[in-house]
Formats: sequence, structure tokens, C-alpha cells
Amino acid sequence: MTASKPDLYRDLAGQLAALLAGEADRIANAANMAALLYHGLPDLNWAGFYFHRGEELVLGPFQGKPACVRIPIGRGVCGTAAARAATVLVAEVHEFPGHIACDPASRSELVVPLLESGRVSGVLDLDSPLPGRFDERDRDGCERLVALFVNHHHR
Ligand code: SME
Repeated sequence: MTASKPDLYRDLAGQLAALLAGEADRIANAANMAALLYHGLPDLNWAGFYFHRGEELVLGPFQGKPACVRIPIGRGVCGTAAARAATVLVAEVHEFPGHIACDPASRSELVVPLLESGRVSGVLDLDSPLPGRFDERDRDGCERLVALFVNHHHR
């Protein structure tokens, strides 16, 4: 797995492009992207979206256990990534102040903002039951996948 992470993300990018091709509906595409990542990336217990609505993030399509529906901007890992308009990678969620424990099994988390012309329209959230599951290659890979998703809906 370690040596082939970039290959895996290249594969996933190809599969995501194929899923998005010809379909403009953001909810449908987010649902398929969540399923692609949940089943395509090892050791995840949650993969999905929150969308920016007013002063909060609201749950979007995902795979995994039912999750908290509303997260204020600035709260938890998701709200922090949205407030900073930057990716947040947390190796041990128990050490992240304000982490929102939707599933107590989650130990590490990667949250990538959806940036549209400098504005955060939502976040992609990946959770793992393994501490330290995500590294810089996951960050790069997921940022690229999110860019594919955002650009597809922003033309
Ligand atoms: N743990 C997240 C909340 C979302 S769930 O993990 C699906 C957070 O702290 O923002």
C-alpha cells in the first residue's frame, strides 16, 4: 500500500473522471464520489461531504455510519478546514481540540475544503479507525480528486 499510494490516487482520479463525465448533478456526483473513495481507499470508516449553508456545514452524501448533520464553521475538524479554507490532516483525533466524535471508532481524519473561486462551498471528510492513517500523499491525492469534482461543477 505505502509504495503505491500515488498509483492508487491516479487510478481513483481516472475512475472519478469517468463517473463525473456527462453528469452535472452535484448531489448525484458527490454520492458516487463518496462511494468510490469509501470502497477504493483502505481502512476508512467514513467518507463523505458536508456542504456550506449559511453559517454552518450540513451533511451531504456519504458512506459509513449516520453522522452529525450540522457543524458550525470553525468547529471540529470539518468546521476548522472550512474556516481556514485549507486541508486539515489529523493523525489522532483525540488530540484535536473540539473534534466532533460522530463515530467513536474514528482515530484519524483528513478534511479537504471544496474551493470555488476562493469560496468554501463544502468539505470532503475522510475518517479512519487507524491512528495516523493519512499522510501527505493522501492530502495531495484527495486535493486533486476534490479539484476534479469542483472544476466539473464550476464551468
Ligand atoms: N469528526 C468530524 C465530524 C464529522 S464526522 O467525523 C463524519 C469533525 O470533527 O469535524
